[in-house]
Amino acid sequence: MIKNKLAAALILGVVFQVNPLFAQQKNIDKIDRKVDSVLRLMTLEEKIGQLNQYTGDRDATGPITTSPNKLKDIKDGKLGSMLNIRGAKETREVQEMAMQSRMKIPLIFGLDVIHGYRVTFPIPLAEAASWDLAELENAARVAGRESAASGIHWTFAPMVDIGRDPRWGRVMEGAGEDTYLGSKIAYARVKGFQGKGLGNLDAIMACVKHFAAYGAAIAGRDYAAVDMSDHSLWEYYLPPFKAALDAGAATFMNSFNTLNGIPATGNTYLQRDILKGKWGFKGFMVSDWGSIGEMVPHGYAKDKKQAAELAIKAGSDMDMESRSYLPNLGQLVKENKVSIALIDDAVRRVLRKKFELGLFDDPYRFSNATRQEKELNSAENKKASLKMAEKSIVLLKNNNQTLPLSKSLKKIAVIGPLAKSEKDMQGFWSVSWQNDKLVSLYEGLQNKIGNQTELLYAKGCEISDTSKAGFAAAIEVAKQADVVVMAVGEAYDMSGEAKSKANIQIPGVQEDLIKAIQATGKPVVVLIMAGRPLVFNWTADNVNAIMYTWWLGSEAGNAIANVLYGDYNPAGKLPMTFPRDEGQIPIYYNYLSTGRPSQNDKDTRYRSAYLDIQNSPKYTFGYGLSYTTFDYSNLKLSKTAMAMNDKINISFTLKNTGKFDGEEVVQVYLQDMFASVVRPVKELKDFQKVMLKAGESKAINFVIDKEKLSFFNQKLQWAAEPGDFKLMIGTASDNIKLESNFALTN
Ligand code: GLC
Repeated sequence: MIKNKLAAALILGVVFQVNPLFAQQKNIDKIDRKVDSVLRLMTLEEKIGQLNQYTGDRDATGPITTSPNKLKDIKDGKLGSMLNIRGAKETREVQEMAMQSRMKIPLIFGLDVIHGYRVTFPIPLAEAASWDLAELENAARVAGRESAASGIHWTFAPMVDIGRDPRWGRVMEGAGEDTYLGSKIAYARVKGFQGKGLGNLDAIMACVKHFAAYGAAIAGRDYAAVDMSDHSLWEYYLPPFKAALDAGAATFMNSFNTLNGIPATGNTYLQRDILKGKWGFKGFMVSDWGSIGEMVPHGYAKDKKQAAELAIKAGSDMDMESRSYLPNLGQLVKENKVSIALIDDAVRRVLRKKFELGLFDDPYRFSNATRQEKELNSAENKKASLKMAEKSIVLLKNNNQTLPLSKSLKKIAVIGPLAKSEKDMQGFWSVSWQNDKLVSLYEGLQNKIGNQTELLYAKGCEISDTSKAGFAAAIEVAKQADVVVMAVGEAYDMSGEAKSKANIQIPGVQEDLIKAIQATGKPVVVLIMAGRPLVFNWTADNVNAIMYTWWLGSEAGNAIANVLYGDYNPAGKLPMTFPRDEGQIPIYYNYLSTGRPSQNDKDTRYRSAYLDIQNSPKYTFGYGLSYTTFDYSNLKLSKTAMAMNDKINISFTLKNTGKFDGEEVVQVYLQDMFASVVRPVKELKDFQKVMLKAGESKAINFVIDKEKLSFFNQKLQWAAEPGDFKLMIGTASDNIKLESNFALTN
């Protein structure tokens, strides 16, 4: 008998060694068995409780709809999760209430850790400008570690909505306009948040949002309707969600918008056919705040009871703060309008994550004050934020070599309403800056050169009022200085949720202040701090040095100072197009040619062009300068025709031809010259961020394969079609350095 057991153990041992997938599957089966064992013991009301989520009393991001007796509901097992509760102590207290319920099922604590928890990182759109996937993953890793150390199990990030409309304030939260870059960043962020996997004490669940196409809200107005072809949905808006799922994302969140007339939260096509069906998603879908109940004002449900029925049938597993599920699902089951099987499936999905997080073993395992003390605001975490911030800065203009500044300068005037601001450096969706230092620009300059250069200061004006009373003092300060550094832009809450703007000029009279300071004749550097692309044509055309510094988080001032003085050579590239005028929006680089393409900005006769402004944007996707220069040469293709399952090796030489060591983001664009669905004039298909010392050359290699040539055809099949392709390699989408052509044959 013992021999048999030994033999069996050996065989299992070998099998586990040979096939980790086998081991993984065994673990999944084990958890499923545990889930079923819990489910069997639960009443219908307790099951429905797991699908109900309330907010804690702090940081509500929407109207509080929960009943005053939410704590009683927790003790009665009527809650599966709570958001906006944080801290080892606070989460432990709330978890202890859940442990008083009959089933003692632990709560999941969620929070919008969008760009950092205690150490604030640059806003996601700024991070996207780094094109540095390793750094992006690390930023999410730090946020995950700090959150997990504070009792948080789950972040409502990454937001992966493609954003082509800067009137929509939530572009600050995503990765910009491009599907390829957005997909790579979505993947990196999920990997960062989830680390080595759920169950690790420094890993938190990611939540991919907002499913789907929320960024295409009509007229850039938040929460507005989205109407698009299935082709556009599949080609441009869904791939970042699929990439996040491929990275192992534990949860998804649906979106407020209707998609082609159906609210996302009641959209079976999105949530069941695509996500849980075709893509095989095994995690759970949480609604956005109140979105289930909002199907009533959408005009899709006559009341919250019908909304609950539509949502659970469409695949919304958890109800965030609309209180539609708790009072109605039980009755719907009794009336045979909703099958218990649907409830059980949703509850299984939620319980499975609680097992994977280890919460059934120890509901308090993340609520550990000692770990919290050690992890938060650590030097390592602040250093990561500084590095990410440096990489996020985009140098837009540097005429007459105004930058980098010399450390021998005697007097610098720091002018503008954002020059000394700390709180605006946090940006929107910052969850834990309140009691932390955010380094302002002024402080960053003090830290860097305060003991060798005299810093003068004038606010000049407010961010958004119209008074010019401060101009005179600012002009006087400017006149005393060798160089003027100006900090203008948006307040931290001028981009973000429910922050749509029809006019995206720099607010108030800030650009008038720039004009007044420019008129002094002093060298001027303008730093624009904002959560979205802004329109600033006069500044762009008249000021010699301009940097887009977004909202850079805890280390903002230190990062900007390092870049101003060349201790970090800027390498950021815009992840979104900057329009000349709001009238051009939506404007993006991968547009379709049309039958009458405008050959240049003057060609308006019977061409697809405007009579009153140029077609081209102010700054295009992928644009960003460096203190050094790069030369692209010697493009070679291993072949100029490839069969379907073949590939083409591409190589070229990149040389740093300037005086500074620096990084270059080399971008590979393709154009499919003709296809069964019209293809964009160019599409980003690959990129590399390359560090080269001054004078250094390096061979850069890429591979073109069928995957890079594929698209969703008229039948929405992902496929490549034989034909001619143009290869473009450049330093920006409108600055192509090397071109060639190749063919794809049958
Ligand atoms: C908000 C946002 C969503 C966020 C949620 C919880 O309204 O749309 O992104 O995660 O509510 O705060």
